[in-house]
Amino acid sequence: MKRELSITEDGSHTIYLPELNEHYHSIHGAVQESSLVFIKYGLDICKEDPVKIFEVGFGTGLNALLSCIYSMQNGRKAYYTSIEKYPLDESLIMALNHYEFAGENGKEIFSRIHNARWGRKEVINNHFCLEKIEFDLTKEIPEGTFHVIFFDAFGPEKQPEMWTPEIFEKIASITLPGGILVTYSSKGDVKRALKSKGFMVQLLPGPPGKRQMIRAVKM
Ligand SMILES: C[S@@+](CC[C@H](N)C(=O)[O-])C[C@H]1O[C@@H](n2cnc3c(N)ncnc32)[C@H](O)[C@@H]1O
Repeated sequence: MKRELSITEDGSHTIYLPELNEHYHSIHGAVQESSLVFIKYGLDICKEDPVKIFEVGFGTGLNALLSCIYSMQNGRKAYYTSIEKYPLDESLIMALNHYEFAGENGKEIFSRIHNARWGRKEVINNHFCLEKIEFDLTKEIPEGTFHVIFFDAFGPEKQPEMWTPEIFEKIASITLPGGILVTYSSKGDVKRALKSKGFMVQLLPGPPGKRQMIRAVKM
């Protein structure tokens, strides 16, 4: 599948997939969106330490990078597991400017995250351990238990098979009671699918360009 580097309104990069006519992040600001949806409304709400995070869609690694920086800045420890069906080519990753938004250690952490081997638990630093797994969520069932779920698949209109009750059943099976799922979507079908699998669903104000987003808590 063809992938193109694209710049969003906050100056941070995203990737565009012409075939799906879909971006990896909001065109109104990739870093802005990830910081709000996943860090502020997800990671920052969970007070577990160490915290175990599961991400659907590693993509550019932006959520992993921001989570690592957050953990360092807040003196917390995170175990971050991320699945990805289509890992990106190194040439595209090297062109991303996300580290410019990640403070003085940003470039080094960005490199460590992307140099981490797939299928292995890798220590990025004292605050952050990363496991990247090549994995197709439509075909396989993830293992482990997690406090926070970053649900960052392509949009329900572009990839409906990733937003079904069957997918959320798999996610529910790895989410600890009281665990938090965050996603940028606020679609009615997504809310209903989550509720049917034991999540209590809340709508929050979304990032620029999105009126609302979902945060769900596992009962
Ligand atoms: C919205 S993008 C992810 C953005 C990513 N979190 C980032 O910050 O760049 C959706 C991601 O889900 C991945 N994906 C698509 N289908 C998948 C599947 N069946 N299982 C796992 N990941 C999948 C895509 O390849 C893509 O990287």
